[in-house]
Amino acid sequence: MTSQDAQYTAAGNELSASFLAAKKRSDATLSELEANPGKFRMLTGDRPTGRLHLGHYFGSIKGRVEMQNRGVNTNIIIADYQVITDRDTTEHIKDNVLNMVLDYMAAGIDPSKTMIFTHSAVPAENQLLLPFLSLVTEAELHRNPTVKSEMEASGHALTGLLLTYPVHQACDILFCKANVVPIGKDNLPHVEITRTIARRFNERYAPKNPVFPEPAAILSDAPEIPGLDGRKMSKSYGNSIMLGATAEETAKLIKKSPTDSERRITFDPVNRPQVSALVTTAALCTGRSPEDIANEIGDAGAGALKKYVTETVNEFLAPHRERRAELAKDMDSVRDILHDGNRRANEIAEQTLDEVRSAMGMKY
Ligand code: TRP
Repeated sequence: MTSQDAQYTAAGNELSASFLAAKKRSDATLSELEANPGKFRMLTGDRPTGRLHLGHYFGSIKGRVEMQNRGVNTNIIIADYQVITDRDTTEHIKDNVLNMVLDYMAAGIDPSKTMIFTHSAVPAENQLLLPFLSLVTEAELHRNPTVKSEMEASGHALTGLLLTYPVHQACDILFCKANVVPIGKDNLPHVEITRTIARRFNERYAPKNPVFPEPAAILSDAPEIPGLDGRKMSKSYGNSIMLGATAEETAKLIKKSPTDSERRITFDPVNRPQVSALVTTAALCTGRSPEDIANEIGDAGAGALKKYVTETVNEFLAPHRERRAELAKDMDSVRDILHDGNRRANEIAEQTLDEVRSAMGMKY
């Protein structure tokens, strides 16, 4: 065991053994991908529950753009059906979907290279849910730790859709036969069940001519970006810097973020999560080390730190925001991009569903 392995297993959570295996697979796949990008098809996505923030940018969107530009076949699903796994309204979904397309493109996603589409527009993808559900047991569904914690956080009873959405996510991944899936740790159980479903489908229905690949999760090495108050960056905490916010809104948000009573600025995420979150934010936006920034601000205190964070964040996001505003002038084109992605996704999904029907002997 390497010391890094020890560190992971020492985390001691439910996921640790499978996390370790997934992390190894992720690292191996990434180095293969660097050598031979054309062999890979990536699919990942987002729930349109709000606007994208800096955490999304550094945690995933930046990596997607890099894969796209490296020549990987890249696909992004805006998972609108996942929004109603644990909430009662579809209000704002449409607006959030269009704003996501804007942010993707402003961040460098090129729709001629990357297919962008939504669940609700691709019936053949959704139909895969039926054969896939036959391949998993109720006990397996109930064992998913992410589903459990999402149910607890929602305060609702477990809906049928929340219980089964990891299988639906397998449909997202397998309909286009993606073999790499960049995700955060919380989505790892869903990629694991996707691998299980692909394997069981091939074994049961297509032993001679496997239909589906067993995709590898790609786990980023980037540290999780804290929200401005040191907690997880989340829309519901009001601690996130939205990519599409104005410079003034951003300044206000940073100004009212909490710090502590110690004047001297240090980088100490464990003991000073709030101050350290601000330092980390500036570090990500400038590419400087957090220790360096903390040292430089030193005794100038929280006011000076906030001023520096505001300047660096707004400077970093200025070109993004400019491109976004330009794109937003023509929302018809943005809708066209989504329609085109949906059309292409339908073609692929119908082709895959056809193969599935053939494998299952259900072509009449
Ligand atoms: N569940 C993902 C999230 O938490 C979004 C998502 C939906 C996704 N379908 C996917 C991610 C397929 C990777 C692959 O936001």
